[in-house]
Amino acid sequence: MKHLTNKRILLGVTGGIAAYKSAELVRRLQDQGASVRVVMTQAATEFITPLTMQALSGYPVHLNILDTETESVMGHIELARWADLILIAPASADFIARYNGGLGNDLLTTVCLAAECQIAIAPAMNQAMWSNNQTQANIRAIETSNVLLFGPESGLQACGEIGQGRLLDVDSLVQKVSQFFPSTILAGKKVLITAGPTREAIDPVRYISNHSSGKQGYAIAEAAVEAGAEVILISGPTNLTPPERIQTIDIISADDMLAAVLAELDGCDVFIGVAAVADFKPVAVAEQKIKKNSDQTVQSMRIELKENPDIIASVAKTQPRPFTVGFAAETENLTQYAKTKLKKKNLDMIIANNVADKAIGFNSENNATTIIWPTGEKVLPQMSKRNIASKIIQTIAEKLAAKTSPSDTNR
Ligand code: C5P
Repeated sequence: MKHLTNKRILLGVTGGIAAYKSAELVRRLQDQGASVRVVMTQAATEFITPLTMQALSGYPVHLNILDTETESVMGHIELARWADLILIAPASADFIARYNGGLGNDLLTTVCLAAECQIAIAPAMNQAMWSNNQTQANIRAIETSNVLLFGPESGLQACGEIGQGRLLDVDSLVQKVSQFFPSTILAGKKVLITAGPTREAIDPVRYISNHSSGKQGYAIAEAAVEAGAEVILISGPTNLTPPERIQTIDIISADDMLAAVLAELDGCDVFIGVAAVADFKPVAVAEQKIKKNSDQTVQSMRIELKENPDIIASVAKTQPRPFTVGFAAETENLTQYAKTKLKKKNLDMIIANNVADKAIGFNSENNATTIIWPTGEKVLPQMSKRNIASKIIQTIAEKLAAKTSPSDTNR
């Protein structure tokens, strides 16, 4: 089984003789299914060529912060956003000191400063440099700032000395990276997700819809697959490519979506309604294209609407019912409205997001949400929809596990 399928790992290589091992590390991470991009410091290029790392990773190696060409392909902010994990291997004493000092004086430190994902550091240096008080103070400081420390180990060093400071062997590094990703929290669970908008036909060429892009729902589907779940995605019309390893059922209207959901509900452990379902649909769909009125004095027309079925409320009424999670896209009184919906629709959890802010919500790459359940809430500040998705899936998995435990009081 590949433990790192779909995982994006940014490998930072700094200057040290152990840099030659990072070439093997790229291959071994790829063997586990990871996509690897490489950032090298100037000093690292003295030990191993960018060409080697480029040939192995299959992508241009990123070297300079002020390289306009590379920046236009994928700049430091994009690189930081792209990564699920940043692994610095080998990490020199100099890099560790600069990182701890909060410096951004080369591409790698700048990417680390801009990163919201986990950073892991695998130090490699001479044993005296490792036990030096300054290095040890830096290591203690970065450990308390939530950085993962992989190694170093003890043994014969390139300089001929024996002691602590060797880069952890490649097998152990790959194992530690795999352990970081919780690929099993939803193993064996069936998760049904709705995403995107619905379209409600007015006539054969016109419809009522909304601005939902489907991005957040698709990201949640991917995060659920990465957590080991069997995922079925029921999607309204979007411009997105159906994710690999996910059975996607395309629908158009809310009625179609309800029918597809009910057909797939059997044995479902979690239902996540991310779709922006149109609340209303025309009472009657004209068989032919509606013509403009030839009487120029009439400047308005009426389309009578009726309410669509509430898909998530229907799911919440079934018995036995899945752990049911809704979304509340609001433009004001965010958490208050979301809490009311949680109760009214009888949900286990609701994700409140503010769609009035253009930087987040519909169609943007980022989101900021609050996860609300009957006895608590968790605020997720602005981050990529992918990161939001994995945090939502993590919280769902925790609450689902707690729900199935009879002694649970957290609901
Ligand atoms: O009531 P409102 O549309 O704000 O509720 C949002 C939540 O309810 C979302 O999870 C959405 O997918 C779901 N919903 C639904 N069917 C509807 C309307 C909303 O499942 N007709």
